[in-house]
Amino acid sequence: MIIFRLAGHGTEKRKEKALRADQKRWDERFRKKGFSLGKGANSFLRKHLHLLPKGKALDIAAGEGRNAVCLALHGCDVDAVDVSPVGLKKARMLAREMGVRIHPLVADLDTFELEKERYDLIANFYYLSRKLIPKMKKGLRKGGRIIFETYVVDQRDLHTGGPRHLKYFLKHNELLRLFRGFRILFYREGIFREGGRKKAVASLIAEKI
Ligand SMILES: C[S@@+](CC[C@H](N)C(=O)[O-])C[C@H]1O[C@@H](n2cnc3c(N)ncnc32)[C@H](O)[C@@H]1O
Repeated sequence: MIIFRLAGHGTEKRKEKALRADQKRWDERFRKKGFSLGKGANSFLRKHLHLLPKGKALDIAAGEGRNAVCLALHGCDVDAVDVSPVGLKKARMLAREMGVRIHPLVADLDTFELEKERYDLIANFYYLSRKLIPKMKKGLRKGGRIIFETYVVDQRDLHTGGPRHLKYFLKHNELLRLFRGFRILFYREGIFREGGRKKAVASLIAEKI
């Protein structure tokens, strides 16, 4: 279980309350029968596995583990981090079902610290924390790669799902800017039909140089 620090004053208290509410919301969603995001990995990940190294990997906001398990099947040794213990329990079950192991870790990514140069690969799907990006960069080894996909602002006009708050959407070209200084191996941004629905996303694979 996640351990919350003792609440301090104003802002800290509000942040912890928001985090608890977030955790509760995701736990409730993941408690429902079946896999709310499916068992099959994200299609951008599946299509680009050939660009991804097989070493030590981190799946950021791993949820029910569809992408972490895919990376483990690819040959990675995967740490799967998420705030939802319910999601990660299902991730562990999915890994077992697929005959691989992952290392689930319940943590708040708002305060999560990555060990310097620990990972060959970091995956970030449908989670956006701008202040986590410098930590992700630090946590990658030289030559290590990032695979990242999440919604861009245009998703709000599509009405096909996605977060409520504007801060969780990428602005146009923002993902490219966030990884300036990296070697961009693949980038796309636009409206795509995948998984049976239209979605407005930016997808990137980049290497630390
Ligand atoms: C849209 S889901 C994406 C899950 C997964 N990446 C995927 O594509 O299947 C967002 C995930 O972010 C997690 N999350 C939200 N806030 C978090 C936080 N502060 N720390 C860690 N995980 C968080 C949720 O529990 C949820 O699993």
